[in-house]
Order: sequence, then C-alpha cells, then structure tokens
Amino acid sequence: MNTERNFRGTPTVHTYFPLTPCMKKVLKITLIILAVIVVAITAVVGYVKTALPGANVADASDIKIEYTAERIERGKYLANAVAMCIDCHSIRDLSVFGAPMIAGTEGKGGEKFSKELGFPGDFYPPNITPAALGNWTDGELLRAITEGVSKDGHALFPVMPYLSFGQMDKEDIYSIIAYIRTLKPIENTAPPSEPEFPVNILINTMPQPAKFSTIPPKEELVPYGKYLLTMAACSDCHTPMDKGKPLEGKYLAGGLEFNLPDGTVLRSANITPDKQTGIGNWTEEYFISRFKMYSDSAYVQHKVGPKEFKTLMPWFSYTNMETHDLKAIYAYLQTVPAVNNQVIKFEDREPAAE
Ligand code: HEC
Ligand code: HEC
Repeated sequence: MNTERNFRGTPTVHTYFPLTPCMKKVLKITLIILAVIVVAITAVVGYVKTALPGANVADASDIKIEYTAERIERGKYLANAVAMCIDCHSIRDLSVFGAPMIAGTEGKGGEKFSKELGFPGDFYPPNITPAALGNWTDGELLRAITEGVSKDGHALFPVMPYLSFGQMDKEDIYSIIAYIRTLKPIENTAPPSEPEFPVNILINTMPQPAKFSTIPPKEELVPYGKYLLTMAACSDCHTPMDKGKPLEGKYLAGGLEFNLPDGTVLRSANITPDKQTGIGNWTEEYFISRFKMYSDSAYVQHKVGPKEFKTLMPWFSYTNMETHDLKAIYAYLQTVPAVNNQVIKFEDREPAAE
C-alpha cells in the first residue's frame, strides 16, 4: 500500500495499480533489457574468472636453464638480499625488531599477508623449496615469478611483486630459479590464498606479459640503483596507494599503512630526498650504515613487546646487500622528486584508557 498527497492536499490511497497495455509493453521491454544486462555481466565475470590469465599471458615456455655455479651464486644473493624471495616465503618472527626470518623455515612458505594488515584478503606465500616445486618446469617458474600465473594456470595476486620481477634482466631471473632449485626441501603446504570480493574476480586481470630489460652496467650508479630498487620492490611499501593504485606525485613518499595485530599502526618512511620530511639530509655513508647495522654482531636482535615500535621493513635481509649496491640505490634515490610528506611511522590506534 502506498499513500501520497494529491495536489489538493487530500491523501490518496492506491491499493491497486492497473497496468495499461502500453505500460505492460514498457515493463516487458525493461525486463528484457535487464535480463540482457544480467547475462552480459555474468558472461564478462565468467570470462574474467576463467579465461583472462590465459588470455593475457602466454603458455609457459619450454626453456631449460643451465644451473651453473655462477648462476646459483648470483641467484642466492638476489633471492636473499635483494628480491626478498626467501624473506617472504619463510616464517618471520614478529616478536623481534625487524621481524627476522626464523632459521630453518627458508622457502617453506605459509606466512600470512592478512586482510588486517591491509591486503584485500588473506594471502599465503606457497612453499618454494624443491619439495613443492620439484615437478615444475623452468618455464612454469619463470612465468609464475615474472608474469603471475601459477603452474595450474590460476592468477597470483601481486603481493609478490611479479610486475617488478617481469622488468628485470631474464638472466637474473634464471639465476634465481637456479638457486631456489638448491634450497633444502621442506615438506609444507601453505593454506590457499583467499582474495575477497571483488579482487577474487579482478585478480584475473592482473597477470601481465613480462617486459624484460638489460641489466645496466654496475658502474652506472643511478640506472643500476633504479634496477635494484625495482627488483627489491621498495616502492610497493614506500609509495602510498589507494585501492592498490600508487598515488600520483607520491612516489616513495611513504605513509603506506600496516595495521599490526596489537592494535598499532606502522607506516612506511618517506625516502624521497626531501630535506624536512624525507632522507634529503642523509649522507651516503649514513644511508649505508642504516642497513649495515643489522649485520653487525654488536647489534643484538632485540625483542619487542606489544605496543612497542616494530617494523616490517626487512632490514635483516637487505643488510646482506653489497655496499656497492646500497650506494647505487642511494644514488638513484637522490634523483627522484623530493616530496614533502610528514609520516608518523608508528602509532597506537587504541591507546590504553586513562
Ligand atoms: C612480498 C612477498 C613476496 C616476495 C618478495 C616474493 N614472493 Fe613469491 N609469492 C608470494 C605470495 C603471497 C604468493 C602467492 C600469491 C597468491 O596466492 O595469489 C607467491 C607465489 C609464488 C610462486 C607461485 C607458487 C605456486 O604454488 O603457485 C612462486 C614460484 C614464487 N612465489 C617464487 C618467488 C620467487 C622466486 C621470488 C623472488 C624472485 C618471490 N617469490 C618473491 C609472496 C612473495
Ligand atoms: C615490506 C615493506 C617494505 C619494503 C619492501 C621496504 N621498506 Fe623501507 N621501510 C618500511 C617501513 C614500514 C619503514 C618504517 C619503519 C622503519 O624505520 O623500519 C621503512 C623504513 C625505511 C627507511 C628508514 C627511513 C627513516 O626515516 O628512518 C629506509 C631508508 C628505507 N625504509 C628504505 C627502503 C629501501 C631502499 C627499500 C628497498 C630496497 C625498502 N625500504 C623496502 C617498509 C618497507
């Protein structure tokens, strides 16, 4: 029943709403249009859900990589100190400042990149030791790492920075593959990732064909530093984002938030050369020392309790970067636009009641 006032102000009550033949026709056409829209949406969603990773990214190639000693050595360095493969695919100890990896878990996977931290769902890095990847071909590994499609064809979410890895020199990725083949096999099955709606559908639009580059000469500090920074995906944490899209004009300006389980919030630092709010006053020497202090045996790993300042910046892995490579990253960082952005790195969202 539907009550309204007519133009004289007396209430009119409609109890029955007769449809004229013309209205019936309009209604029928509207229903048909609606049905067509529903069918079209279902078809698009169905396509995105099932066909897209395959449509954007070609089948895995049938390359066979030679696992030379040089490649394994280079891969070990990159996977542990630069590309953070081992750091992400291991269990980290959040009770210690810098959340170092727990020894003996290298590559076994299963750490949780949770919705609470700020991800659109719960994502678990899978086991990447030979116990899990033994039956993967080199081509399947290359495709997963650089294009974001798993062996069975399902799309991976770019928590793993495959869009960055896809911009590297193929040779470096071959080295990483050669190295992860040598990891100690650990039997472990990580839970399957659970992206939430609508990312569980959109995820299929994310894998992209790799755009490999040529590694710049080591002596050319700025381009070489940019290359390393891309591989290390510093920008994934240091550029603030909205719904997964980097904010314009905020490249490396910090402020991306991580909600920690104890009710505190951690924000990445501004690493642009801004003098007031970034690292514009840092000398090269100081920059390098900030990384290197974590490999100093005098720097004891210290426990951090609930509500104490802790960080997800993988200091204990980056500390193994060669001094030359840190120099190159510093040189590149000096060339990016300075952005004035004051970041409060750590805050308690739920301060204890007075
Ligand atoms: C920031 C964390 C992170 C980094 C760094 C990272 N990964 Fe991953 N990786 C993940 C996550 C999370 C997934 C699963 C994504 C999903 O389920 O959508 C994954 C998936 C994979 C897969 C697919 C496995 C499968 O069973 O489908 C492989 C292989 C892999 N990573 C290898 C590597 C290698 C090699 C590197 C370094 C070059 C690397 N990862 C760096 C987090 C990371
Ligand atoms: C997993 C996310 C993550 C990644 C990846 C990451 N950072 Fe950070 N970084 C942080 C957070 C969070 C902080 C703030 C807390 C702290 O100081 O540890 C930080 C702090 C820093 C600081 C200290 C700045 C200051 O003002 O004290 C520097 C320098 C830095 N990062 C550089 C880098 C570089 C260079 C890379 C890539 C090689 C990188 N970060 C990759 C999260 C990350």
